[in-house]
Amino acid sequence: MHAFFQTHRLLLAPMAGVSDEAFRALCREQGADLTYTEMVSAKGLSYANEKTRHLLHLAPGEDQVAVQLFGHEPDTMAAQAAWIEREMGASLAYLDVNMGCPARKIVSKGDGSALMKDPALAASIVRAVARAVDCPVTVKFRRGWSEGVETAPEFARRMEDAGAMAMAVHGRYAEQLYRGSAEWDAIARVKEAVAVPVIGNGDVRRGADAAALVARTGCDAVMIARGAEGNPWLFAQAKAALAGEPEPDAPGVEERIALARRHARLLGAREGKNIVRMRKHAAWYLSGLPGAAAARGKINGCVSVEDFDEVFDELLACAREHAAAHE
Ligand SMILES: Cc1cc2nc3c(=O)[nH]c(=O)nc-3n(C[C@H](O)[C@H](O)[C@H](O)COP(=O)(O)O)c2cc1C
Repeated sequence: MHAFFQTHRLLLAPMAGVSDEAFRALCREQGADLTYTEMVSAKGLSYANEKTRHLLHLAPGEDQVAVQLFGHEPDTMAAQAAWIEREMGASLAYLDVNMGCPARKIVSKGDGSALMKDPALAASIVRAVARAVDCPVTVKFRRGWSEGVETAPEFARRMEDAGAMAMAVHGRYAEQLYRGSAEWDAIARVKEAVAVPVIGNGDVRRGADAAALVARTGCDAVMIARGAEGNPWLFAQAKAALAGEPEPDAPGVEERIALARRHARLLGAREGKNIVRMRKHAAWYLSGLPGAAAARGKINGCVSVEDFDEVFDELLACAREHAAAHE
């Protein structure tokens, strides 16, 4: 997959509850070369759960998406992977297996990063899924399970042997959750350990971080999660930094509010009247703007596109007043 990642160097990470079609569309517009779906439960799909299937839709303007599956039963994973491939055809870029999620409700069932504790089972899953589909199969995992015990390079070799065509590495231990900082050198050690493309992930917050991550680790692509929350412009900045060009300026207040409005409309088109999942995005877009702290409570009462528009109108007026007073 080296050729693929030569043209797909900037990826939006899978984020449950965040990386839906609306957010993905905006990140693609700003320069993300590929996005991942929210993680999809293999068990949920096997029960023909409509809500789960909904996660597989392409975003407006998206040609392809990577689908991330979670689960721990090789047969279920393989069967659902095959179903996804049949359903999505060419719009499926590749299938990724989640081996990094540290959330208690996931690892307690043996899914997500719990698989790092059982590399033999993790390898069986990759083998079973790779046998079941024609598209590439990739994995996403962490530096290791236990804090201080870096198993990622050895784990990476096993996944490569099992048929993983690329791998994304988040430089934190599962036990760390999101504490501390990502150790990029762990990504460099994985890169040395395997021949398949390695996607570096963790703590890319500015455009320059993307270039620094590549320089430090030699990774083939850069994956961004939290840095893009309320900030899809990070992709344009990272793209420029990777090309060695000056980064575009950070967006002004008007641009931020205009994008937040579009985000709400895209969500409305997907979800209908109730877009409560916009609340967290709105808070991210608006954080730091004049009047934003006071608007928090209102945002948490918003349900529809119109409700959000009202808050955006108020904040825009507040920002304009603020700008006039400081001229
Ligand atoms: C809200 C949220 C949801 C996430 N959901 C997933 C997920 O579904 N699958 C996954 O592999 N990682 C998930 N992650 C982890 C991210 O993909 C990424 O590995 C991690 O946040 C580190 O990257 P960052 O420093 O750029 O945020 C999630 C992270 C956050 C903050």
